[in-house]
Amino acid sequence: TVEQRVEALLKQMTLEEKIGQLVQYNDVGASAPTAAGSDSPGLAVNPETRTRVDAMALAREGRLGSMLNVIGADKTRAFQQAALSSRLHIPILFGADVIHGYRTVYPVPLGLAASWDPALIEAVSHMAATEATTAGVKWFYSPMVDISRDARWGRSTEGAGEDAYLGAAMARAYIRGYQGDDLSRPDAVAASVKHFAAYGAAEAGREYNTTDMSDIRLRQVYLPPYKAAVEAGAATMMSAFNALNGVPATANPYLMDQILRKEWGFNGFVVSDYTSVMELLNHGIALDAATATKKSLEAGVEVDMMSHFYDTQIPKLLAEHRLSMDTVDEAVRRVLRVKFALGLFEHPYAQGTEVTRALPEHRPLARRAAAESFVLLQNAPFGGAAVLPLAKSVKRVALIGPLADNPNEMQGAWAGAPHPEDVVTLRAALESRLAARGGALVYAQGATITGEGAEDFSAATRAAAQADVVVMALGESSAMSGEAGSRAFLDLPGHQQQLLEAVAATGKPVVLVVFSGRPLVLDWAAAHVPAILEAWFPGVEGGNALADVLFGDVAPSGKLPMSFPRAVGQEPLYYDQLPTGRPAGNADLSKPPVGDSRYLSRYIDVPNDALFSFGHGLSYTSFGYAGVQVSRPSVPLAEANRPGARQLVTVTATVTNTGPREGTEVVQLYLRNLGASVEQPVRSLKGFRRVTLKPGQSQQVSFTLGFDELAFYGVDSRLVVEPTHYTVWVGGSSRATESAQFVVTP
Ligand code: IFM
Repeated sequence: TVEQRVEALLKQMTLEEKIGQLVQYNDVGASAPTAAGSDSPGLAVNPETRTRVDAMALAREGRLGSMLNVIGADKTRAFQQAALSSRLHIPILFGADVIHGYRTVYPVPLGLAASWDPALIEAVSHMAATEATTAGVKWFYSPMVDISRDARWGRSTEGAGEDAYLGAAMARAYIRGYQGDDLSRPDAVAASVKHFAAYGAAEAGREYNTTDMSDIRLRQVYLPPYKAAVEAGAATMMSAFNALNGVPATANPYLMDQILRKEWGFNGFVVSDYTSVMELLNHGIALDAATATKKSLEAGVEVDMMSHFYDTQIPKLLAEHRLSMDTVDEAVRRVLRVKFALGLFEHPYAQGTEVTRALPEHRPLARRAAAESFVLLQNAPFGGAAVLPLAKSVKRVALIGPLADNPNEMQGAWAGAPHPEDVVTLRAALESRLAARGGALVYAQGATITGEGAEDFSAATRAAAQADVVVMALGESSAMSGEAGSRAFLDLPGHQQQLLEAVAATGKPVVLVVFSGRPLVLDWAAAHVPAILEAWFPGVEGGNALADVLFGDVAPSGKLPMSFPRAVGQEPLYYDQLPTGRPAGNADLSKPPVGDSRYLSRYIDVPNDALFSFGHGLSYTSFGYAGVQVSRPSVPLAEANRPGARQLVTVTATVTNTGPREGTEVVQLYLRNLGASVEQPVRSLKGFRRVTLKPGQSQQVSFTLGFDELAFYGVDSRLVVEPTHYTVWVGGSSRATESAQFVVTP
């Protein structure tokens, strides 16, 4: 068995070989901080205290357990050969930041989450694994399951947005896609669920900033996706950069020992984030490298990514009896367990023919994923009819904006090992579509993304003036989101807002296609532009997928996984807020307060709600909801308050396609619990389903609610169902209005 093999190998290992399994370097000179340079109190991140680690020499000596972001089968093979020539022939585990495709890049995770389609996420994740394993990569630093409720945080783009239930569903899908049923399959990769935990709650949305929250909020809002991933069998986790309630996650025994191991029974290993062991010095909870090492290893971080602390400090800590050999052995055991489970000893090298470019046979799935990720935020009539889909009569299209023909910017943050040449831009796709229907495209960049250089809008307004319809491709650069991509402003960067206003002033119908890694403030556009399509960063097939949707071959079906604010001052903004004692109720929040309407939980200068709320997204048809019913009006507490109880109540509703064409709707179920001992959100997502209906067709949709859906965390941090009143809503967004009630009786 795996356990027997682990123990047998462990017995043969020297201390150096054991420590080797606990360190990770890259191949770019592996420039890591020196332990010596950070031995004195003070800031460790100092370029002068960095040293070069010879990763190849370590591999040859059997002292390098894993490597990060080594791209290409030749390179992984060279390191692997070195490792296998060492005394015990223990293979290296190669990890990489493959979070939305390896070569065939598909939409960023926030865009994927907008599909609300776990089967799709599973399929694309598996596709990425089949590509990366051909280059020897057997470990993805993905999925990022950090809940993000603050659009200022750049890493929002890497996760599934603001909601625990949706986030958990996505987390499970990624794990299934990467790991499959059998980790030892040649095309399976180990997942690394990151960043444990609550990294997305960084104060003020500022990267790496501190997080502070109640245990109830932690468990109810932030932990469910990590927990779902662990339950789905995630092989590894990555510790987060942030401190949680004053204790850095990388040295946090409450998170990693109590919750992850004791409560959830996690059997895999935890890798630190990049130099986050070293950063414990900067956090001010360790005065020297040895203490940082002790704290993180004892808390439950088995692998030190790039800090160069474990290899230099563990021998010293053991010699001084400040660390037990058992702790080291247990860490090594966990690493070896994953390597054996992966079949790495049997198949240490890249599998099959190396995939070096986006694969033609993978493009259709990438195209479908992109089309499903788009969210039609608005589609108002212009001259009598909705602007989208573009009418058959549209022959001349003006395409304007810095993201219309910019392959470098289509793939988003952490795009595996991409080639910009593989990208089909919106310009390329529209040109060929229009040529096929006897039309023509006029293109003008109009502005740069960030506003550098002289900008002249005249070519853009001239192009617009000649066209039947204008498509504007505006938004952020890929680098404006992702790690260290926090923004204090959420509007269109550079001079793009002015460009939009200048083009809209021509009086032509405008379709705004927004490329972004996060929600932006689109208040002006919402008031002045008839159609707005959120495209995120769609990947190599982005242009084709956009053409599919703009021309109506595919009807949009995406729904927002994160609220789009009216103003950045609303952040953090999320739909499942806790109630206040002064709810705004029916007050008209679009007007400044007068009299009693002042003393409400509100802003005096902007409404409380999102401009485009969580779950919102239009199609080219419309859907109606009726007949929301519960299977029974009351449930006895003894039946309901039982972990594992399923099907306590079934909620049904009828959804009808009330519009002119076939379309797919994401039917959403929300729940509120009133009268509990701890206040509960005004509503929370507890179910969703994608339903495709022909015009006029109806379908009854059912959701079952069990303990998992009805329970909440009480003051003792345990899940409980209490005798309370529940309201359920079923509809097409978090603003669903059709509802029913039931009670849990004492
Ligand atoms: O996986 C990433 C992590 O998400 C952020 N810091 C660097 C790691 C490795 O590249």
